[in-house]
Amino acid sequence: MEIVRKIADLQDIIAEAKNNGKRIGLVPTMGALHEGHLTLVRRCKEDNDICVVSVFVNPTQFNNPVDLDKYPRTPEKDSALLESVGCDIVFMPEAEEVYPEPDTRIFDLGEIDKVMEGKMRPGHFNGVCQVVSKLFDYVKPHVSYFGEKDFQQVAVIRKMTKDLGLDLDIVQVPIVREESGLAMSSRNMRLSEKEKADAVAISKALFESKEKMNIMPLSEVRQWVIDTVNSVDALEVEYFDIVDGDTMQDVENWNDSQYIVGCITVYCGEVRLIDNIIYKN
Ligand code: PAF
Repeated sequence: MEIVRKIADLQDIIAEAKNNGKRIGLVPTMGALHEGHLTLVRRCKEDNDICVVSVFVNPTQFNNPVDLDKYPRTPEKDSALLESVGCDIVFMPEAEEVYPEPDTRIFDLGEIDKVMEGKMRPGHFNGVCQVVSKLFDYVKPHVSYFGEKDFQQVAVIRKMTKDLGLDLDIVQVPIVREESGLAMSSRNMRLSEKEKADAVAISKALFESKEKMNIMPLSEVRQWVIDTVNSVDALEVEYFDIVDGDTMQDVENWNDSQYIVGCITVYCGEVRLIDNIIYKN
């Protein structure tokens, strides 16, 4: 496994691999890797000749400097984990390498980023598009892999890829969960044992709500999830929206779309957790 820090070096290695007819897969990450990321890497490895993983905490997607500061950084551990799952190239640049000057590009994402994460974290998805479009440009992968936990992010990246006319596939990989049901996340590292146990109520409520969709109207299921999660002292729902899985716009009735997803964000103490459930697809 090669660890590369400069864009020019990365491009040289990729160019040689492509000249040799190799198929390239890319897994963008911000490090602090866990089993969820490793699942993406294994899938990338299975589907491609060369698996490139980027590890870069992208400053432009944080609208809160404290969150950026607190984001866990574990580069040595990340490298060891990536080596263990057969990653070929790790791209670990410094911020100055990716942003030698401020990126002033504004991505028009239509209605997709006006709701949920886009509404709560203004500018977040624009920052995601800035960095992911740069990574796509450096690597020019045949395919790139993203976790379904960040459901809206995948929709944003699909739109950006289409709008920029990029010739690559975006693969969405299902959420990997702890045995307890808690969705794996780098932020879980910041939870105490008690908070981790409390946070299990989020996935539990989502799973149970799926069983209610045949017997309860959508608005009641939505309220039930919010009330059930909020009934745990340590948890506070920021939003729970039931949306169309492509457009991210609210759905009023279970019959209004063929693809329905419930997306939730919950504060557990100071840690902001996200999760989702696919009701229909
Ligand atoms: O999902 C993430 O970890 C990040 O948003 C991504 C896609 C790596 C861009 O920085």
